[in-house]
Amino acid sequence: MARPTSATIHVDALRHNLGQVRARAPRSRVMAVVKADGYGHGLERVARSLAGADAFGVAALSDAERLRAAGISQPVLLLSGFDEPSDIDRLRALGVSTVVHHASQLEMLEQALPGEPVDCWLKLDSGMHRLGFGPMAFRDAHARLTALQPGVVGEVMLMNHFASSDDFADGPSLGQQTRRQIEVFREVTADLPGLRSLANSAAVLGWPDAHDDWVRPGGALYGISVVEGRDGAGFGLRPAMTLSTRLIAVNRVCKGGRIGYAGTWECPEDMEVGVAAIGYGDGYPRAAPAGTPVLVGGHRSQVIGRVSMDLMTVDLRGIPGARVGAPVTLWGPELPVETIAAVAGTIGYELTCSITRRVRFLER
Ligand SMILES: Cc1ncc(COP(=O)(O)O)c(C=O)c1O
Repeated sequence: MARPTSATIHVDALRHNLGQVRARAPRSRVMAVVKADGYGHGLERVARSLAGADAFGVAALSDAERLRAAGISQPVLLLSGFDEPSDIDRLRALGVSTVVHHASQLEMLEQALPGEPVDCWLKLDSGMHRLGFGPMAFRDAHARLTALQPGVVGEVMLMNHFASSDDFADGPSLGQQTRRQIEVFREVTADLPGLRSLANSAAVLGWPDAHDDWVRPGGALYGISVVEGRDGAGFGLRPAMTLSTRLIAVNRVCKGGRIGYAGTWECPEDMEVGVAAIGYGDGYPRAAPAGTPVLVGGHRSQVIGRVSMDLMTVDLRGIPGARVGAPVTLWGPELPVETIAAVAGTIGYELTCSITRRVRFLER
Protein backbone atom coordinates (compact mmCIF):
# COMPACT_ATOMS: atom_id res chain seq x y z
CA MET A 1 0.00 0.00 0.00
CA ALA A 2 1.23 3.51 -0.79
CA ARG A 3 2.19 5.71 2.10
CA PRO A 4 -1.02 7.51 3.08
CA THR A 5 0.59 10.93 3.46
CA SER A 6 -0.71 13.64 1.15
CA ALA A 7 -0.83 17.38 0.59
CA THR A 8 -4.15 18.35 -0.94
CA ILE A 9 -4.11 21.65 -2.77
CA HIS A 10 -7.39 23.54 -2.78
CA VAL A 11 -7.54 25.16 -6.17
CA ASP A 12 -10.74 27.04 -5.35
CA ALA A 13 -9.04 28.52 -2.27
CA LEU A 14 -6.18 29.83 -4.44
CA ARG A 15 -8.71 31.50 -6.74
CA HIS A 16 -10.72 32.83 -3.81
CA ASN A 17 -7.57 34.36 -2.32
CA LEU A 18 -6.68 36.01 -5.61
CA GLY A 19 -10.18 37.51 -5.56
CA GLN A 20 -9.56 38.81 -2.04
CA VAL A 21 -6.32 40.44 -3.15
CA ARG A 22 -8.09 42.05 -6.10
CA ALA A 23 -10.86 43.32 -3.83
CA ARG A 24 -8.30 44.92 -1.52
CA ALA A 25 -6.18 46.42 -4.30
CA PRO A 26 -8.79 47.14 -6.98
CA ARG A 27 -6.68 49.58 -8.97
CA SER A 28 -3.53 47.47 -9.10
CA ARG A 29 -2.44 44.65 -11.32
CA VAL A 30 -1.56 41.45 -9.46
CA MET A 31 1.75 39.65 -9.83
CA ALA A 32 1.26 36.29 -8.11
CA VAL A 33 4.49 35.27 -6.40
CA VAL A 34 5.07 31.57 -7.09
CA LYS A 35 8.70 31.20 -6.05
CA ALA A 36 9.90 28.15 -4.09
CA ASP A 37 7.57 25.89 -6.08
CA GLY A 38 4.57 28.07 -5.37
CA TYR A 39 5.41 28.24 -1.65
CA GLY A 40 5.43 24.44 -1.72
CA HIS A 41 2.03 24.09 -3.40
CA GLY A 42 3.45 23.18 -6.84
CA LEU A 43 4.59 25.80 -9.36
CA GLU A 44 2.67 24.70 -12.44
CA ARG A 45 -0.43 23.77 -10.44
CA VAL A 46 -0.56 27.18 -8.79
CA ALA A 47 0.11 29.08 -12.02
CA ARG A 48 -2.63 27.17 -13.83
CA SER A 49 -5.03 27.69 -10.92
CA LEU A 50 -4.25 31.39 -10.86
CA ALA A 51 -4.74 31.89 -14.59
CA GLY A 52 -6.47 35.15 -13.70
CA ALA A 53 -3.26 36.69 -12.32
CA ASP A 54 -1.70 39.45 -14.42
CA ALA A 55 1.86 38.13 -14.00
CA PHE A 56 3.95 35.68 -12.00
CA GLY A 57 7.03 36.30 -9.88
CA VAL A 58 9.74 33.64 -9.47
CA ALA A 59 13.14 33.57 -7.79
CA ALA A 60 14.96 31.23 -10.19
CA LEU A 61 15.33 31.32 -13.95
CA SER A 62 14.67 27.58 -13.99
CA ASP A 63 11.22 28.31 -12.53
CA ALA A 64 10.56 30.79 -15.34
CA GLU A 65 11.52 28.02 -17.77
CA ARG A 66 9.11 25.63 -16.08
CA LEU A 67 6.29 28.16 -16.37
CA ARG A 68 6.90 28.70 -20.08
CA ALA A 69 7.21 24.93 -20.65
CA ALA A 70 3.81 24.55 -18.95
CA GLY A 71 2.34 26.98 -21.46
CA ILE A 72 1.99 29.90 -19.03
CA SER A 73 1.94 32.99 -21.25
CA GLN A 74 1.51 35.80 -18.70
CA PRO A 75 4.46 38.08 -17.97
CA VAL A 76 6.99 36.49 -15.62
CA LEU A 77 9.43 38.44 -13.44
CA LEU A 78 12.70 37.07 -12.09
CA LEU A 79 12.50 38.61 -8.62
CA SER A 80 16.09 37.94 -7.57
CA GLY A 81 17.53 39.17 -10.85
CA PHE A 82 20.00 37.40 -13.12
CA ASP A 83 23.45 36.14 -12.12
CA GLU A 84 25.55 35.86 -15.28
CA PRO A 85 25.72 37.24 -18.84
CA SER A 86 24.28 34.09 -20.43
CA ASP A 87 21.14 34.57 -18.30
CA ILE A 88 20.32 37.63 -20.41
CA ASP A 89 19.92 35.40 -23.49
CA ARG A 90 17.69 33.05 -21.49
CA LEU A 91 15.54 36.00 -20.36
CA ARG A 92 15.25 37.14 -23.98
CA ALA A 93 14.35 33.70 -25.26
CA LEU A 94 11.70 33.23 -22.57
CA GLY A 95 10.30 36.74 -22.76
CA VAL A 96 10.86 37.09 -19.03
CA SER A 97 11.57 40.39 -17.26
CA THR A 98 14.12 40.82 -14.51
CA VAL A 99 14.76 42.76 -11.37
CA VAL A 100 17.96 44.80 -11.53
CA HIS A 101 19.26 45.35 -8.03
CA HIS A 102 23.06 45.55 -8.31
CA ALA A 103 25.78 47.33 -10.27
CA SER A 104 27.14 43.98 -11.46
CA GLN A 105 23.89 43.46 -13.36
CA LEU A 106 24.10 46.90 -14.96
CA GLU A 107 27.60 46.01 -16.14
CA MET A 108 26.39 42.75 -17.68
CA LEU A 109 23.57 44.57 -19.48
CA GLU A 110 26.03 47.19 -20.75
CA GLN A 111 28.15 44.41 -22.25
CA ALA A 112 25.18 42.66 -23.89
CA LEU A 113 24.77 42.78 -27.66
CA PRO A 114 21.64 44.48 -28.99
CA GLY A 115 18.73 42.10 -29.46
CA GLU A 116 15.33 41.47 -27.94
CA PRO A 117 14.88 44.11 -25.20
CA VAL A 118 14.47 42.85 -21.62
CA ASP A 119 11.94 44.64 -19.40
CA CYS A 120 13.57 45.62 -16.11
CA TRP A 121 12.29 46.40 -12.63
CA LEU A 122 14.90 48.63 -11.01
CA LYS A 123 14.94 47.92 -7.31
CA LEU A 124 15.38 50.58 -4.68
CA ASP A 125 16.74 49.63 -1.28
CA SER A 126 14.37 51.88 0.64
CA GLY A 127 15.49 50.53 4.01
CA MET A 128 15.39 46.73 4.11
CA HIS A 129 19.08 46.52 3.23
CA ARG A 130 18.87 43.26 1.36
CA LEU A 131 18.64 43.81 -2.41
CA GLY A 132 18.54 47.09 -4.30
CA PHE A 133 20.34 50.33 -5.07
CA GLY A 134 20.45 52.75 -2.17
CA PRO A 135 18.76 56.16 -2.53
CA MET A 136 22.04 57.84 -3.54
CA ALA A 137 22.82 55.32 -6.29
CA PHE A 138 19.31 54.74 -7.61
CA ARG A 139 18.98 57.61 -10.04
CA ASP A 140 22.38 56.95 -11.60
CA ALA A 141 21.40 53.28 -12.04
CA HIS A 142 18.15 54.43 -13.65
CA ALA A 143 20.04 56.62 -16.11
CA ARG A 144 22.43 53.77 -17.01
CA LEU A 145 19.50 51.42 -17.57
CA THR A 146 17.48 53.79 -19.74
CA ALA A 147 20.61 54.53 -21.79
CA LEU A 148 20.44 50.89 -22.92
CA GLN A 149 16.94 51.28 -24.39
CA PRO A 150 15.78 49.95 -26.76
CA GLY A 151 18.50 47.54 -27.94
CA VAL A 152 19.06 45.76 -24.64
CA VAL A 153 16.55 47.14 -22.14
CA GLY A 154 12.80 47.45 -22.73
CA GLU A 155 10.44 49.05 -20.24
CA VAL A 156 12.00 50.29 -16.99
CA MET A 157 9.81 49.99 -13.89
CA LEU A 158 10.44 50.84 -10.26
CA MET A 159 10.08 48.69 -7.15
CA ASN A 160 11.12 48.15 -3.56
CA HIS A 161 10.46 45.48 -0.95
CA PHE A 162 9.19 45.97 2.59
CA ALA A 163 10.92 44.63 5.67
CA SER A 164 8.01 44.84 8.13
CA SER A 165 4.79 45.63 6.32
CA ASP A 166 3.01 43.18 8.66
CA ASP A 167 3.45 45.90 11.26
CA PHE A 168 0.38 47.90 10.25
CA ALA A 169 -0.02 51.63 10.74
CA ASP A 170 -2.49 50.98 13.58
CA GLY A 171 -0.10 48.55 15.28
CA PRO A 172 2.02 49.21 18.37
CA SER A 173 4.92 50.82 16.52
CA LEU A 174 2.58 52.59 14.07
CA GLY A 175 4.35 50.90 11.19
CA GLN A 176 7.23 53.32 11.38
CA GLN A 177 9.64 51.35 9.21
CA THR A 178 7.11 50.80 6.42
CA ARG A 179 6.01 54.42 6.55
CA ARG A 180 9.62 55.47 6.20
CA GLN A 181 10.23 53.02 3.32
CA ILE A 182 7.23 54.43 1.45
CA GLU A 183 8.50 57.99 1.99
CA VAL A 184 11.98 57.09 0.74
CA PHE A 185 10.50 55.38 -2.33
CA ARG A 186 8.33 58.42 -3.12
CA GLU A 187 11.18 60.89 -2.63
CA VAL A 188 13.71 59.01 -4.75
CA THR A 189 11.36 58.11 -7.60
CA ALA A 190 9.27 61.32 -7.57
CA ASP A 191 9.98 62.52 -11.10
CA LEU A 192 11.00 59.23 -12.71
CA PRO A 193 8.73 57.66 -15.31
CA GLY A 194 7.63 54.04 -15.11
CA LEU A 195 5.17 51.75 -13.36
CA ARG A 196 5.67 51.14 -9.66
CA SER A 197 5.41 48.14 -7.34
CA LEU A 198 5.89 48.17 -3.58
CA ALA A 199 3.42 45.84 -1.90
CA ASN A 200 3.83 42.23 -0.78
CA SER A 201 0.90 40.41 0.89
CA ALA A 202 1.02 42.26 4.18
CA ALA A 203 1.10 45.60 2.39
CA VAL A 204 -1.85 44.51 0.23
CA LEU A 205 -3.75 43.92 3.47
CA GLY A 206 -2.48 46.79 5.59
CA TRP A 207 -0.93 49.53 3.45
CA PRO A 208 -3.38 50.69 0.76
CA ASP A 209 -1.30 53.79 0.06
CA ALA A 210 1.45 51.48 -1.23
CA HIS A 211 -0.64 49.52 -3.72
CA ASP A 212 0.45 51.56 -6.75
CA ASP A 213 0.45 49.95 -10.24
CA TRP A 214 1.37 46.36 -9.30
CA VAL A 215 1.01 44.40 -6.07
CA ARG A 216 3.16 41.28 -5.52
CA PRO A 217 1.40 38.96 -3.06
CA GLY A 218 2.71 35.51 -2.22
CA GLY A 219 1.59 34.18 1.15
CA ALA A 220 -1.89 35.70 1.00
CA LEU A 221 -2.65 33.74 -2.18
CA TYR A 222 -1.95 30.52 -0.31
CA GLY A 223 -4.17 31.64 2.55
CA ILE A 224 -1.26 31.85 4.95
CA SER A 225 -1.31 34.61 7.50
CA VAL A 226 1.21 37.31 6.89
CA VAL A 227 0.70 38.93 10.27
CA GLU A 228 2.08 37.38 13.45
CA GLY A 229 -0.57 36.17 15.84
CA ARG A 230 -3.36 36.14 13.24
CA ASP A 231 -4.32 33.41 10.82
CA GLY A 232 -5.26 33.93 7.18
CA ALA A 233 -8.99 33.42 7.88
CA GLY A 234 -8.94 36.65 9.88
CA PHE A 235 -8.30 38.42 6.58
CA GLY A 236 -10.91 36.47 4.58
CA LEU A 237 -8.26 34.14 3.14
CA ARG A 238 -8.68 30.38 2.77
CA PRO A 239 -5.83 27.89 3.35
CA ALA A 240 -4.80 26.32 0.06
CA MET A 241 -3.14 23.23 1.53
CA THR A 242 -4.29 20.37 3.74
CA LEU A 243 -1.52 18.08 4.98
CA SER A 244 -2.87 14.73 6.08
CA THR A 245 -2.04 11.10 6.75
CA ARG A 246 -3.51 8.13 8.59
CA LEU A 247 -2.89 6.16 11.77
CA ILE A 248 -0.85 3.07 10.95
CA ALA A 249 -0.87 1.69 14.52
CA VAL A 250 -2.90 2.12 17.68
CA ASN A 251 -1.23 0.82 20.83
CA ARG A 252 -2.29 0.58 24.44
CA VAL A 253 0.49 1.92 26.67
CA CYS A 254 0.49 1.62 30.43
CA LYS A 255 0.79 4.52 32.85
CA GLY A 256 4.45 5.56 33.10
CA GLY A 257 5.30 4.28 29.59
CA ARG A 258 7.66 6.62 27.76
CA ILE A 259 6.89 7.45 24.16
CA GLY A 260 9.32 7.64 21.23
CA TYR A 261 12.98 8.66 20.93
CA ALA A 262 14.55 9.64 24.23
CA GLY A 263 11.26 8.85 25.96
CA THR A 264 10.47 12.50 26.40
CA TRP A 265 6.75 12.02 27.05
CA GLU A 266 5.42 9.84 29.86
CA CYS A 267 1.91 8.44 29.78
CA PRO A 268 0.03 9.85 32.79
CA GLU A 269 -2.41 6.92 32.73
CA ASP A 270 -3.11 3.74 30.77
CA MET A 271 -4.00 5.09 27.35
CA GLU A 272 -4.23 4.57 23.61
CA VAL A 273 -1.38 5.98 21.56
CA GLY A 274 -1.71 6.45 17.80
CA VAL A 275 1.17 6.27 15.35
CA ALA A 276 0.69 8.48 12.30
CA ALA A 277 2.61 8.02 9.03
CA ILE A 278 4.26 11.40 8.89
CA GLY A 279 7.50 12.86 10.18
CA TYR A 280 10.22 15.32 9.38
CA GLY A 281 11.14 13.25 6.32
CA ASP A 282 7.83 14.49 4.90
CA GLY A 283 8.44 18.07 5.96
CA TYR A 284 6.52 18.09 9.22
CA PRO A 285 8.69 20.08 11.66
CA ARG A 286 10.69 18.04 14.14
CA ALA A 287 10.61 21.11 16.34
CA ALA A 288 6.85 20.66 16.91
CA PRO A 289 6.75 19.89 20.64
CA ALA A 290 4.43 17.61 22.57
CA GLY A 291 1.09 19.38 22.74
CA THR A 292 1.15 20.55 19.11
CA PRO A 293 -2.42 20.15 17.85
CA VAL A 294 -3.42 17.55 15.26
CA LEU A 295 -6.86 16.36 14.20
CA VAL A 296 -7.64 12.64 14.40
CA GLY A 297 -10.85 11.81 12.57
CA GLY A 298 -11.69 15.50 12.81
CA HIS A 299 -11.22 15.60 16.61
CA ARG A 300 -8.55 17.74 18.18
CA SER A 301 -5.67 15.80 19.65
CA GLN A 302 -1.99 16.47 20.24
CA VAL A 303 1.49 15.30 19.34
CA ILE A 304 3.13 13.31 22.14
CA GLY A 305 6.83 12.42 22.19
CA ARG A 306 9.32 13.49 19.56
CA VAL A 307 8.45 13.75 15.89
CA SER A 308 10.68 11.25 14.07
CA MET A 309 11.63 10.94 10.39
CA ASP A 310 8.66 8.89 9.19
CA LEU A 311 6.30 8.81 12.13
CA MET A 312 4.76 10.75 14.94
CA THR A 313 2.82 9.65 17.98
CA VAL A 314 -0.48 11.17 18.98
CA ASP A 315 -2.66 11.14 22.07
CA LEU A 316 -5.86 9.17 21.49
CA ARG A 317 -7.47 9.82 24.86
CA GLY A 318 -11.01 10.98 24.29
CA ILE A 319 -10.87 10.43 20.53
CA PRO A 320 -13.81 8.26 19.50
CA GLY A 321 -13.23 5.60 16.86
CA ALA A 322 -9.49 6.15 16.60
CA ARG A 323 -8.46 2.95 14.83
CA VAL A 324 -5.75 2.03 12.38
CA GLY A 325 -6.61 3.90 9.17
CA ALA A 326 -8.20 6.90 10.92
CA PRO A 327 -7.44 10.16 9.09
CA VAL A 328 -4.99 12.54 10.72
CA THR A 329 -4.83 16.20 9.67
CA LEU A 330 -1.63 18.07 10.39
CA TRP A 331 -2.83 21.41 8.99
CA GLY A 332 -5.52 22.72 6.70
CA PRO A 333 -8.71 24.77 6.83
CA GLU A 334 -9.68 23.33 10.24
CA LEU A 335 -6.21 23.65 11.74
CA PRO A 336 -4.28 26.69 10.48
CA VAL A 337 -0.67 26.07 9.49
CA GLU A 338 0.15 29.24 11.42
CA THR A 339 -0.87 27.48 14.66
CA ILE A 340 1.64 24.71 14.02
CA ALA A 341 4.29 27.19 12.90
CA ALA A 342 3.89 29.23 16.07
CA VAL A 343 4.55 26.29 18.38
CA ALA A 344 7.38 25.01 16.16
CA GLY A 345 9.10 28.41 16.25
CA THR A 346 8.71 29.23 12.58
CA ILE A 347 6.25 30.72 10.09
CA GLY A 348 3.61 29.10 7.91
CA TYR A 349 5.62 29.86 4.76
CA GLU A 350 8.50 27.68 5.92
CA LEU A 351 6.20 24.76 6.69
CA THR A 352 4.42 24.71 3.31
CA CYS A 353 7.76 25.17 1.52
CA SER A 354 9.26 22.21 3.38
CA ILE A 355 6.94 19.43 2.20
CA THR A 356 9.17 16.79 0.64
CA ARG A 357 8.89 14.85 -2.58
CA ARG A 358 7.66 11.63 -1.07
CA VAL A 359 4.39 13.32 -0.08
CA ARG A 360 1.67 12.70 -2.67
CA PHE A 361 0.14 15.91 -4.03
CA LEU A 362 -3.58 15.90 -4.76
CA GLU A 363 -5.91 18.63 -5.99
CA ARG A 364 -9.39 19.26 -4.78
C1 LIG B 1 10.49 40.82 -4.02
C2 LIG B 1 9.34 40.10 -3.43
N1 LIG B 1 8.10 40.52 -3.69
C3 LIG B 1 7.02 39.90 -3.17
C4 LIG B 1 7.16 38.81 -2.32
C5 LIG B 1 5.92 38.18 -1.73
O1 LIG B 1 5.92 38.30 -0.33
P1 LIG B 1 4.70 37.72 0.52
O2 LIG B 1 4.72 36.24 0.36
O3 LIG B 1 4.98 38.11 1.92
O4 LIG B 1 3.48 38.33 -0.04
C6 LIG B 1 8.44 38.35 -2.02
C7 LIG B 1 8.60 37.23 -1.10
O5 LIG B 1 9.38 37.22 -0.21
C8 LIG B 1 9.55 39.01 -2.59
O6 LIG B 1 10.80 38.60 -2.32
